[in-house]
Amino acid sequence: MLLLGIETSCDDTATAVVRDGRHVLADVSTNQDVFHAKYGGIVPEIASRRHASLLSAAVEDALARAGVALEALDGIAVTVGPGLIGSLVVGVATAKALAFAGNKPLYAVNHLHGHIFAAFLERDVEPPYPFLALLVSGGHSQLVEVAGPTAMRVLGRTRDDAAGEAFDKTARLLGLPFPGGPALEALARDGDAHAIAFPRYRPEPGALDLSFSGLKTSARYFLASDAAHGVARADVAASFQAAIVDVLIDRVERALAANQVRALVLSGGVAANETLAAAFRRVGAAHELPTYVPERRFCTDNAAMIAAAADRIGAAARVDPLALTADPSLPF
Ligand code: KG4
Ligand code: ZN
Repeated sequence: MLLLGIETSCDDTATAVVRDGRHVLADVSTNQDVFHAKYGGIVPEIASRRHASLLSAAVEDALARAGVALEALDGIAVTVGPGLIGSLVVGVATAKALAFAGNKPLYAVNHLHGHIFAAFLERDVEPPYPFLALLVSGGHSQLVEVAGPTAMRVLGRTRDDAAGEAFDKTARLLGLPFPGGPALEALARDGDAHAIAFPRYRPEPGALDLSFSGLKTSARYFLASDAAHGVARADVAASFQAAIVDVLIDRVERALAANQVRALVLSGGVAANETLAAAFRRVGAAHELPTYVPERRFCTDNAAMIAAAADRIGAAARVDPLALTADPSLPF
């Protein structure tokens, strides 16, 4: 199938043309960071208005770059949730209009399912079901057993903050620019990961839930304490990052001990973190499991992953263009 993907759940106005859930013919993203940076976070009102003014051009751009006419598409895939309602409605309304006017099938995609299938973009392998996915983004952190495109089971999730959220909040305390994750990773590169023993959340044996709020609070108290004087910010960043990676990797090991899978997938914006990705690959190697981490550009929000998920899920994602409504709190 040749699909146009549209993703506007947060602050990226993204469009893509993808063939067979795998070959990315065009991948367009208009990042809004400059508009939000001065507020230290995403302002929903601004995000929504930017989507409204940019999306038509982004659709045309993706089609032009792919050298594909609207008529040649086999369908349109759009993120229906979860996300910011004002942002989602712009993408959904546009996709509905294009599908209705062009008489094309419309596919409604859960943003998080998109992240999972991002790992197979530009790869010549079929997803080896069942696989274990660690999905870590700005809004979600969870372990998922993926037995098939329509058979996904959450094994464990965060009790409080998402991993990306913890990165962003601590980056802010360190005086780093928005978005915090990549900035904190860059600062951590020159730091000593053993400098500060930040707490690691360890639930009872066998439990697979995650938690990052204790770690975040600990980092906040540390930075406000006398102990912080004379400690390099890079050491704080590296120690904080190490604690997040340890917690995530411990939960992956626990999930592997309790579930038979054929492969490992790391996905979501935090998958762009090289320290995490390297640790994740080591787990895969130790268990002799093929390990898939999306290309960096497909880790953070993009529209290619939305088209990829629609292609894999197929008929089960098909919706009526007249009836579709965005759902900001769409469950997994
Ligand atoms: O998946 P994503 O683009 O958007 C959501 O669906 O939330 O994830 C964004 C999150 C942000 O919290 C951002 O700080 C984090 O991913 N992130 C990173 C890195 N790149 C993005 N966190 C740590 N290290 C990175 N290199
Ligand atoms: Zn995302």
